[in-house]
Amino acid sequence: MSLLELQGLSAGYGPVQVLHGIDLRVDQGQVTVVLGANGAGKTTLLRALSGIIKGTGTVTFDGISLLGRPSEKIAALGISHVPQGRGTFDDMSVEDNLRVGAYLRPQHQAKGALDRWYDLFPRLADRRNQQAGSLSGGEQQMLAIARALMPEPRLLLLDEPSLGLAPNTTRMVFDSLGRINEETGTAMLVVEQNAHLALEIGSAAVLLEAGRVVSSGTSDELRGREDIRRAYLGY
Ligand SMILES: Nc1ncnc2c1ncn2[C@@H]1O[C@H](COP(=O)(O)OP(=O)(O)OP(=O)(O)O)[C@@H](O)[C@H]1O
Ligand SMILES: [Mg+2]
Repeated sequence: MSLLELQGLSAGYGPVQVLHGIDLRVDQGQVTVVLGANGAGKTTLLRALSGIIKGTGTVTFDGISLLGRPSEKIAALGISHVPQGRGTFDDMSVEDNLRVGAYLRPQHQAKGALDRWYDLFPRLADRRNQQAGSLSGGEQQMLAIARALMPEPRLLLLDEPSLGLAPNTTRMVFDSLGRINEETGTAMLVVEQNAHLALEIGSAAVLLEAGRVVSSGTSDELRGREDIRRAYLGY
């Protein structure tokens, strides 16, 4: 059994249906990548999984059905969402943002988690008392990821972590994600336009078009396809 399994997930906004029967899985400790053009439904997919919008079909996490559960319950099961645009609190310090991320955990455990993520992201440690809104784009993305990791989720949902970042910073963020995955075994579902880096840390990938999965396979299989190379890898 996979950690996360979707069968025929459909979702949308009011009368507008955006996702039309998505099948997808994320295995324990693995990274699955979601590719797709603007408007394909990638953000909508992550919103449906984290309970922000309603969906129909079947979604199970470690065998537990997710659809119909409120987002706090889904978070408590061990799923953390880093939304597109990051979702950190600008007027709070770096450390307070991280503490909010750990609200599900007892205080003494939160302290250990803080030190751990400061180790991984030393730039955050240096800026722990700085207001999140005054961090650079790359630092804000690291903060958003560290905050989502504070409750030690089993699955991390990441919506375009490279958005607005310079190539070097993007590389650094993906190196960190790869290391977190290897060291902690946190599974990830990553929506990403930078297919090259995402496929490096991902073992499986799906391609979404207009709310449907039109290709799926291992990262190597998708990398080997000419249409995907041309549209998402640029060679
Ligand atoms: N709140 C909303 N109300 C109505 N329609 C929406 C809403 N949010 C998104 N949509 C529509 O749903 C479709 C899919 O949007 P979504 O944000 O999931 O795309 P995406 O694949 O994440 O795109 P991008 O790469 O640009 O972030 C689009 O046509 C969009 O206009
Ligand atoms: Mg999006």
